[in-house]
Amino acid sequence: YQIVKVTPKDGEKILDHLRKFFFREEPLNIDIKLLGERGDETCEELENYCIETIPEGLSVMAVTNTGRVVGVSLNGQHEPGHVDEMQSSADNCPNLRFRKILQLLVEVEKKSDIFTKYPDVDKQIEVRILSVDTVMRGRGIAKALLDKTRELAMQNGFRLMRVDCTSHFSARAVARLGFECIFSLPYEEYCRDGKQVFHPALPHTQVATYVQRLN
Ligand code: ACO
Repeated sequence: YQIVKVTPKDGEKILDHLRKFFFREEPLNIDIKLLGERGDETCEELENYCIETIPEGLSVMAVTNTGRVVGVSLNGQHEPGHVDEMQSSADNCPNLRFRKILQLLVEVEKKSDIFTKYPDVDKQIEVRILSVDTVMRGRGIAKALLDKTRELAMQNGFRLMRVDCTSHFSARAVARLGFECIFSLPYEEYCRDGKQVFHPALPHTQVATYVQRLN
């Protein structure tokens, strides 16, 4: 495979891949049955979240020499002062399953307090979606996607790269690449109305924010 930049014309190919893998296999999506009891529904809100990231021009994918997409990293610029906006779009998300995930991401955004921790950093790049074809896992494709993202980020003047890892495996990948964990929230401790929201299967026990300075 090769790692290449994603362009807007790749949108449908990217969604095809994500519907097959990320939508079904990200640990929280599995836990909340994002695609319904039978797994045959779609999640328009997550599709839009993915598609809207592509025009930022910071995303990369792994493609085989026959043109099949086997991995995707959807990346975008992350700016301060958007928490209220994030909160209201989470609270108003019509899909009640996906709403839970957006609300978790708001909580992580607030508690990780990244802009206060790095006051000298004005431009951050955020890895929003990381996905690899099931049969190709454990061969370093995620790490290759993250490496390419970092290269693209540096070319574009970003000074910090950030990944919120909901999966133990994405956390392993970024830790291996030298990222630092600056915040973590165990799923056991994340409650709403006094009840634990997520119960993903082991080894996924927490969401963790990892960062790396780009100099
Ligand atoms: N069992 C044990 N270890 C595994 C497995 C597995 N099934 N899969 C990956 N790993 C380990 C690797 O050994 C490696 O650790 P190491 O460097 O200590 O050896 C680490 O996890 C990452 O390995 P890669 O091969 O680079 O990762 P991979 O290409 O398999 O992709 C990914 C990882 C993207 C998380 C993949 O498992 C996936 O698509 N999962 C479903 C979607 C998902 O959960 N995405 C991440 C959510 S967080 C986010 O999107 C920002």
